[in-house]
Amino acid sequence: MVETMHWQQGVLELLDQTHLPQECIFIACRDYERVKLAIQRLEVRGAPAIGAAAAFAMVLGARQLADKPDFLGALNAVRADLISARPTAVNLSWAADKQYQLAVKLHEQDYAPYKIIGELEKAAVKIYNEDIARNKKMGEYGAAVLPQDAVVLTHCNAGALATCGWGTALGVLRTAHSQGKLRMVYADETRPLLQGARLTAYELAEDDLPVTLITDNMAAWTMKTKGVNAVIVGADRIAANGDAANKIGTYGVALAAKAHGIPFYIAAPVSTFDFTLTSGEQIPIEERAAEEVKSFRSEQTAPAGVDVFNPAFDVTPSELIAGIITEYGVIRAPYIENIQELQKQSKEDF
Ligand code: MRU
Repeated sequence: MVETMHWQQGVLELLDQTHLPQECIFIACRDYERVKLAIQRLEVRGAPAIGAAAAFAMVLGARQLADKPDFLGALNAVRADLISARPTAVNLSWAADKQYQLAVKLHEQDYAPYKIIGELEKAAVKIYNEDIARNKKMGEYGAAVLPQDAVVLTHCNAGALATCGWGTALGVLRTAHSQGKLRMVYADETRPLLQGARLTAYELAEDDLPVTLITDNMAAWTMKTKGVNAVIVGADRIAANGDAANKIGTYGVALAAKAHGIPFYIAAPVSTFDFTLTSGEQIPIEERAAEEVKSFRSEQTAPAGVDVFNPAFDVTPSELIAGIITEYGVIRAPYIENIQELQKQSKEDF
């Protein structure tokens, strides 16, 4: 399985996903600013992977600031700067806040900065390792809801590459495959940056899972003609009523699934829930540069002066979601009540 990142002797090495599938190049991040840049450029992307990278970036930031008289104040500024890198995936603030709160707690116990840095490092490694374990748990719960001979459509990349390993939506498919339940995965190519084509098709093929690539505008027809019996995608932020933000195009896929009577599932860890938001309308949606739509890898594909709308995410209303697969089990309607229950169960994770 491809590795998204590793922490080696105090350096965060990130797989540069913008070069996939052609090249596997790792970027050595020695300061937090380089991690922030990697998040903005989508060199590391996918909500849980962004979260883990931010946890390590807080270690790098703390190391850069160890001699500052106001160590905590400066670390808080690093936290805020990191969070500003991308607005939609809540895992980013979940991890950066968690690390900052740990530093505050240890500071109150009179830990010196160098000891705080050591503890932040241990906490980041824990977030990384737990992400993989949580994905495997999600895989078990998710595989159980799939039919035998599952034909699954997915959008974007919610795989090993979007996490610390195994994946959320693709983790479910990996587990289903190991149980002999998976007949085929249809992967939407996912315009404009082709996470489905470049990343999902790549990582599933690398691991010998059955995968067929389609363009985004083939999704509804594929559902109608190819026996698709489930849709599974990841999420970047889930509101307290179950509305879920994910890569642009997900909402259309959910509508098409509804029209064909196909269950539409989200797979996401609790760190992707934002219990403070009552509905998906409050989820901030990132808008990215027009160039991403007008060109691909510097090849122009549209008139240079044309107006562009480029939201990176959309929100699928919970009425269209058959279930949210988490590491605590599958959450179903009524979402408000069942998400409140999940919040109680997962208190330690926040
Ligand atoms: O812009 P990206 O590539 O970071 O968007 C990623 C997605 O939308 C994923 O589906 C989501 O983060 C879930 S990852 C397990």
